[in-house]
This record gives sequence, structure tokens and C-alpha cells, in this order.
Amino acid sequence: MRRLTPKQLQAQHRRQGVRPTAEQAPAAETVTQTGAGEPLAEYRVTQEPYYRAVGDEIELYEAAYEIRMPMMLKGPTGCGKTRFVEYMAWKLGKPLITVSCNEDMTASDLIGRYLLDANGTRWQDGPLTLAARHGALCYLDEVVEARQDTTVAIHPLTDARRILPLEKKGEVVKAHPDFQLVVSYNPGYQSVMKDLKQSTKQRFAALDFDYPEHDVEVEIVAHESGVDADTASKLVHIAERARNLKGHGLDEGLSTRMLAYAGSLIARGIDPLKACRVALVRPITDDLDMRDALDAAVTTYF
Ligand SMILES: Nc1ncnc2c1ncn2[C@@H]1O[C@H](COP(=O)(O)OP(=O)(O)OP(=O)(O)O)[C@@H](O)[C@H]1O
Ligand SMILES: [Mg+2]
Repeated sequence: MRRLTPKQLQAQHRRQGVRPTAEQAPAAETVTQTGAGEPLAEYRVTQEPYYRAVGDEIELYEAAYEIRMPMMLKGPTGCGKTRFVEYMAWKLGKPLITVSCNEDMTASDLIGRYLLDANGTRWQDGPLTLAARHGALCYLDEVVEARQDTTVAIHPLTDARRILPLEKKGEVVKAHPDFQLVVSYNPGYQSVMKDLKQSTKQRFAALDFDYPEHDVEVEIVAHESGVDADTASKLVHIAERARNLKGHGLDEGLSTRMLAYAGSLIARGIDPLKACRVALVRPITDDLDMRDALDAAVTTYF
């Protein structure tokens, strides 16, 4: 299982001896064809990721996968979307290719480009093409960050055609039967300008994610950080208070991820007050009054 940004993908290509056309490849260099035997071997999720179901999302996802329905996971940061996809890839026994989208990403970063190697130029599939050709789950994390012309590249893959035209190469890739596209999306963050087009949104079924209910979140925080249930429960109580301040001075609530970080510090012997200050309060706001309010919530419980 690898999580590669387009830049990291380019770096990986360089390590493998494949040079972008702009660079000159040394004549004697041996070029490794990316995993000629099993192209997606490095993307297999070999160990079961810990995922605590919060509702019927696993059954729903499995049903959606049966018909290869493109999926959109919506929810605030740090609430378990990425972990869920990793878990589903493991459960379905499919490789997972993750792309962190950003506004510098071009369609070529997703689809592929010609590279110059010792024998001349050759085509290098991008992560989306790799997934479509060989049958992986392709996870586009924070898909709204990508420019619209990049997002549109996924359209023919996410309707009944299930094809990916590689215009520069003059090839049309027919998606492998196992291929599925899954994207994540944080509805709170983007401006109208950055929202997805309706023609993109309407190609997906969507699962809503949110912070879990108290007892479930306690279980997750305890598991992830190694603190006992009592300490985890205190952390969740603090988060619940902070979440009530969303829209009243806080842009976003404290995530399950932050609680796991705070718990991990506590489990390593850091004083809980300090751990909460460093891992919960300081990162989430610079507003001094808000920090005081959150510090007060922390001292109520620790
Ligand atoms: N249901 C869950 N089961 C197991 N772990 C969870 C769950 N929900 C949250 N977590 C914990 O919270 C952390 C953050 O979750 P994750 O990385 O999946 O968030 P995300 O929703 O993808 O956030 P972002 O939008 O910022 O990418 C995980 O590393 C894990 O420790
Ligand atoms: Mg994520």
C-alpha cells in the first residue's frame, strides 16, 4: 500500500531509472519496468488495518463495489475516511493506489506521460491509469483540491463507459473489472469556486462520515494511542465540548486523529494537561480567548 503525491511518483520513477523527457538518461543505465510480474504488488494491503465500523458503511461499500459504483466519502478531517478505504481495500483483497490531490496536479500527473529512458521515450502510466489498467481501487484524496480540468479526466471512467482515453498516447484503456474509483471530500472547506461540478458529483454514490458517538470514539482512541478507556473517555469529552464551538470561534472540531495524538503522548508518559495543550488546543486555534476556553475544558477533565 503506497500513498504517493504526483511529485513522489516522479521521484519514484527517477529512482527506478526512468527519466522525464526533459532530463538526459545515462546511456548504460538499466531501466526497470515497474513490476513487470505483478504491476500492483506494492499497492497490496497485506495487513488488516484497524477500522472500527460506526454504522453500516462496510456493507454499503461492499454492495457498491459489487457493481463498481464510484464512491465519494464526505466528512471532516481526521474522522476515518482514509482508514476506511485502506480497510475496504484489504477486505475486498484489492490493491489500493492513493493520490493526494492538490491544485498543482495536472491531468498528466493522474493519467501518465512520456518519459525518456536509455532506449528512447516510453509511456509511463500515471496512478489512475495504473489502477484502471490492472484493477485497483484508486483513491483520490481531497479531490476538490484538483483543478476542474483534472477532475474532468475521471468522467469517462465513472460512467457506463468505464474507459480512460490516453490522448497523448492514442490509446483507450478499458477499465479492468476490479477497478473502482473512490474520492474523499471535506464539505466544510472549499469555497463555491472550488466545489465539484455537478457533472462530477453526480457520478458518485456518497457516504457521510462524521466523528463517531462517544463510546465508539473512546474505543478508537484507546486502540490507536494505547491509553486506557478512562483516559480516552476524558479526551473524547474534551473533543465533544470543542465540537460545540464549531462555528462559534472554531472553524473545525477536534478530530479523532488529534485525540489519538494526544493519547499517544499521554501513553508515553507526558502529563495529560501538557499533552492536550500541545496536541489538541494549540494546533486548532491561535485565538487566545478560544485557547483559554479549550484549556478550561481540558482542566475540567484532567
Ligand atoms: N472508525 C475508525 N476506525 C479506526 N480508526 C479511526 C476511525 N476513525 C478515525 N480513526 C483514527 O483517526 C485517524 C485519522 O483518520 P483518517 O486519516 O482516516 O482521517 P480522514 O477522514 O482521512 O482525514 P482527512 O480528511 O484529513 O484526510 C486514523 O489514523 C485513526 O487513528
Ligand atoms: Mg484522509
